[in-house]
Amino acid sequence: MRIVVLTGAGISAESGLRTFRAEDGLWEEHRLEDVATPEAYARDPALVHRFYNARRAAAAHAQPNAAHEALAALAERHDLTLVTQNVDDLHERGGARHVIHMHGQVNRALCAACGHRWDAPAEMDSATECPACGSAAARPDIVWFGEMPYHMDEIWAALERADLFAAIGTSGQVYPAAGFVQHARRSGAHCVELNLDRSAVSREFHEHLIGPATRIVPDWAAGL
Ligand code: APR
Repeated sequence: MRIVVLTGAGISAESGLRTFRAEDGLWEEHRLEDVATPEAYARDPALVHRFYNARRAAAAHAQPNAAHEALAALAERHDLTLVTQNVDDLHERGGARHVIHMHGQVNRALCAACGHRWDAPAEMDSATECPACGSAAARPDIVWFGEMPYHMDEIWAALERADLFAAIGTSGQVYPAAGFVQHARRSGAHCVELNLDRSAVSREFHEHLIGPATRIVPDWAAGL
């Protein structure tokens, strides 16, 4: 069976990483316009670096949970395309071998001057130099609002041939990820949403499993 799974911040919540839109979410503490747009980086790169340095440290201290591990095990039994909106590396540390990070990765750096990518140091700031061109133009390799998500051709192709599409731990409020379910439905896939509560696109799904990811994801994956 060909499966496409899309994950969001909710799959890492029980690992202790904050989600975005809960009452204690990241967007309650920072306006996304101040830390997650190219304009924010141009206006105040130090604030943007501080925001992502904190998220990089939080991700480094977090451990993958049973939901991450269940998806890694699922990939050993089925043709699984694992797409995540998350920028942490908990899927990889949970055993997943091929993860499509459509919003980038907090552990990677990108040179705003020459486009070179490298493994980010624990802390970056405006003085961090690009190892390729030497410019002090390092930014987190994160897809900010207004920028094009990564690997979209691979993702659309996987959705078009999927037999099963599952969205796990995402509020369905950010496109293009929130539109994946419609694309999968049009391709004839069975669509299931696994989430703590209903998302903005719940009505698009054929099936809903409600609960914490560490409980519902292993049970769901084991049944496939
Ligand atoms: N188990 C399952 N689902 C959970 C859990 C949990 N333990 N905890 C929270 N959730 C659900 C919430 O109900 C919510 O629907 O996870 C979802 C998290 O939603 P958001 O905080 O909006 O995160 P996400 O959907 O990943 O955001 C998408 O928005 O800000 C941008 O680029 C950022 O990738 C992010 C994108």
